[in-house]
Amino acid sequence: MALISIELESKSIFMDISLAPFVVSLIISDRLRKHAKANSLPEQEKQLKYGLYFSLSLVAIEAIFSILYITRWFWALYLLALVVIPLKQNEFRALRMFIVAFVPFVVVSVLNDLTEAISSEFFKSTETYFKNASTLTFIWMIAILFSQNRQSKAAEKERIKRQKEDEINRAIAIRKVELEELVAERTAELTQQKEELEQAITELRATQSQLIQSEKMASLGELTAGIAHEIQNPLNFVNNFSEVSKELLDEMQAEMDKGNTADAKQIVADIKQNLEKISHHGKRADSIVKGMLLHSRASSGQKELTDINALADEYLRLAYHGLRAKDKTFNAKFETDFDESIGKISLVPQDIGRVILNILNNAFYAVTEKKKLSGNEYAPTVSISTKKTDADIQIRIADNGNGIPEKIIDKIFQPFFTTKPAGQGTGLGLSMCYEIINQEHGGSMLVESSEGEGSAFIIHLPT
Ligand SMILES: Nc1ncnc2c1ncn2[C@@H]1O[C@H](COP(=O)(O)OP(=O)(O)OP(=O)(O)O)[C@@H](O)[C@H]1O
Ligand SMILES: [Mg+2]
Repeated sequence: MALISIELESKSIFMDISLAPFVVSLIISDRLRKHAKANSLPEQEKQLKYGLYFSLSLVAIEAIFSILYITRWFWALYLLALVVIPLKQNEFRALRMFIVAFVPFVVVSVLNDLTEAISSEFFKSTETYFKNASTLTFIWMIAILFSQNRQSKAAEKERIKRQKEDEINRAIAIRKVELEELVAERTAELTQQKEELEQAITELRATQSQLIQSEKMASLGELTAGIAHEIQNPLNFVNNFSEVSKELLDEMQAEMDKGNTADAKQIVADIKQNLEKISHHGKRADSIVKGMLLHSRASSGQKELTDINALADEYLRLAYHGLRAKDKTFNAKFETDFDESIGKISLVPQDIGRVILNILNNAFYAVTEKKKLSGNEYAPTVSISTKKTDADIQIRIADNGNGIPEKIIDKIFQPFFTTKPAGQGTGLGLSMCYEIINQEHGGSMLVESSEGEGSAFIIHLPT
C-alpha cells in the first residue's frame, strides 16, 4: 500500500499486512470515536466501533491468508468511508480540519493501490509520481495536524481563560448575592433598632412629663407646708384676739351693770382695736389662702404686672417654713436686700415663684448639708436680692453652702442631673428654671460658685 506499505510491509519486520492504512484508520477512528463519545453521539460511536472491528478483521485475514490484492479494495473503501462520511456530517464539523489533513493521503493511497491492482505495467511507469504525491500528502498531513494542534492549544488556553473568568464572575455573583443579603440583614437590624429607639424615646418622653408633673406636685407639697405655717400665725392672732375680746365684752358688761360708763367706753375702744387686728389677720390668712389656690392651679402662662420683691419675699418664707415643717432641726439665716425702685414688672408669677422656690430649696439643702459636717462656728446663710439696671432686672440667690464642683457645673441645668440621694431630687428643678427663664421670659440665668464656699444663681429678666 503506497509509500508507507512499501517501506513498512517488509516481511523481515512485519507480516504481510496493510500496516499503513491500518495505522491511519486507527488514528482517524480513535479521534472520531472520542469526539462521538464527548458529544453523546451513540449511533456514530457504534458505527465507528464496527469499523474498528472491520479493520481488525482485515488485518487478521491478511496475516493469515496473505491476500493483500483482495483486502486492499476493502481498505480503500473503509478509508474513504472514514473520511467522506464524517466530512458530510454536521456532528463532526469540529473535526473537519483534522479529517481534511488525511484526505489527500487517503485519496493518493487509494489511487495508488487501485492503479497497482488494475495495471501493474501502468503503475510502474507512474510509480515516481505516486511516491512524490505520497510524500506531499504526508507533508500536508503533518502540516495540517501541526497547525491544528497549535490552534487547539490556543483554543484550549482561551477556554481555560474563559473558564477562569467564568469562575471569577460566578464567585463575584455569589459574593454579590451574599453582600446583598448582608445589606438586607443589616438594614432590617437597623430598622428594628430605629423602631426600638423611637419606642424608647416615646417612653422617655412620657416618663419625663410624668416626672415634671411629680416635680410640680413635690414643690406644691413644699408650698403647702409653708403656707400652712404662714396661716397658723394669723390664725393664732385671730383666736387670741377674739378670746381677749370675749373677755373684754364680759368686763364691759360688768362695768355697764355698775353704771361705770367711762370704763365701759374705754373697753369698747380696746375691743374695736382688737377687732381691727382680727380683721387684719383674717385678711392676711385670706390672702395666704388665695395665694395657695393660685399655686395649686396650673400656671396660667399669663404675664401679669407683679411686685418681684414681694414675690421673692413670699417665696423665701414659704421655702423656709416648708423646709422647717419637714425637718424641725432645720435652721438657717436668711437675708434680703430688695431694690425698691423696681416697681411692678410683667412676668408669670406662678412660674417665677417656682424658679425662686427651687433655687432657694437647693440653697437651703446645700447649707444644711454643710452644716451637718461643720462645727458651730458655721452659720448657714441664704440671701436673696434684687437689682434694677439699665438693661434688666436681676434676682440673685446666694448661699454659703459647699458650692458646686467644677466638673459638674456644666451639667446642673440638664434634665435629670442630680447629686441628691434617690428619692430626694429628680434633677428637674434647674432645667425647669432654665426653661421658664429663657424660653418663657426671654431672660437668662447664670451660676457662680466656688467650691467649699458657696454658690450664687443670678436671674436676668428683661424689663
Ligand atoms: N446651691 C447649690 N449648691 C450646691 N449644689 C447645687 C446648688 N444648686 C444646685 N446644685 C446642684 O445641681 C444639681 C441639680 O439641681 P436641680 O435643682 O436641677 O435638681 P435637684 O435639686 O437635684 O432635684 P429637684 O430639684 O428635681 O428636686 C443638684 O443635685 C446639685 O448637685
Ligand atoms: Mg432642685
